[in-house]
Amino acid sequence: MEKIGVGLLGLGTVGWGVYQAFHHRQQVITKKTNRLFEIRKVLVKDVERPRQNRDVFPLLTDDFSEVLDEEVQVIIEAIGGVEPARRYIEEAIMAGCHVVTANKELIAKHGVSLEQLAHRHGVKLLYEASVAGGIPILGTIRHLLQTNHIHRITGILNGTTNFLLTEMEKKGVSYEEGIAVAQELGYAEADPSNDVDGVDSMYKLAILTRLAFEVTLPFQKIPYKGIRGIKVGELILAKKLGYAVKLLAEVGRETNQDTVSLRVAPMLVPLSHPLATVEGVYNGVHIEADGVQDITLLGQGAGTEPTASVMLEDVCNLFLLPPPMVQDEPEAVILPEEPFGERFI
Ligand code: NAP
Ligand code: HSE
Repeated sequence: MEKIGVGLLGLGTVGWGVYQAFHHRQQVITKKTNRLFEIRKVLVKDVERPRQNRDVFPLLTDDFSEVLDEEVQVIIEAIGGVEPARRYIEEAIMAGCHVVTANKELIAKHGVSLEQLAHRHGVKLLYEASVAGGIPILGTIRHLLQTNHIHRITGILNGTTNFLLTEMEKKGVSYEEGIAVAQELGYAEADPSNDVDGVDSMYKLAILTRLAFEVTLPFQKIPYKGIRGIKVGELILAKKLGYAVKLLAEVGRETNQDTVSLRVAPMLVPLSHPLATVEGVYNGVHIEADGVQDITLLGQGAGTEPTASVMLEDVCNLFLLPPPMVQDEPEAVILPEEPFGERFI
């Protein structure tokens, strides 16, 4: 049986989940792929830090060149941020490694050039875990696009803020308390202001938009607004009036078909809408398309196990699925000044 050497970058919330998942699900993935996977090195920032399991210590390094020296064929990136993640991924691709990543910031900013680099080197770059945690949203969109035109996507794409809004509304916890718990549970980004200010949702929306509408965005221009400063009383009042407050990311094609409008903002969602039922760390994505009409997917949007599970699926798909289509650098779109106007969904 072919042995596949794996280099794992990062051993935090996501990386630790991937490390565990490889051990717990080894039999299943071996059977599925007919390959034996072995984590040969784990890159961390601080090799001295206490870890969840002593067995991992011999694998730790803070030197990326040691990871590539181990004859790895797959790199799993879970360190986050743009640099040095981009440099490591580029080096890995140029050394002939497939790459799986959960890094939405990197894929939103450099996904097109990294995919093209991977294509040129005959390897794959997969990033299902970068959007909506455990929901297989990118795969679903790829499926739908085979026969559908997607008109609109509306999603709760950030688990931290949805968890925070639920805790505030249901238990009356303050904004600050809620954020502290989300950090403890490993849901929040290294800088949680990326969650609460809508930046994380904006990166994810950019990735969805590029895939579903085949456009590249001047994404610094995507309008985004978060939930900073929202009050418990406001959430309770909205509920009394028949709405849930949700941080929504939405994109839709304009009627002239040449442009898309998109934004991230807290919005009032009627309690009858499926996205109003999405609570806690769950995410939800509602897709409107011409053939399938409407579908809504719900699932855990952050956290160790759902994210690691999706990354392991990507690892299997490296060997089971044909490579995804690589987009040329598509035309940039013009974002209207007032996307959607003021409206409730
Ligand atoms: P995290 O808990 O902060 O872990 C980051 C890990 O990367 C740590 O092990 C850290 O090493 C290591 N690291 C950071 N900078 C490094 C560097 N310059 N060189 C070497 N190692 C470095 O982060 P996380 O929550 O797992 O998130 C990782 C990625 O997954 C991010 O892109 C995030 O957006 C994405 N993601 C997260 C979730 C989630 O639920 N948390 C879900 C989906 C996607 P030390 O351990 O030594 O500090
Ligand atoms: N901080 C992110 C969230 C992690 O809360 O949704 C998952 O991408």
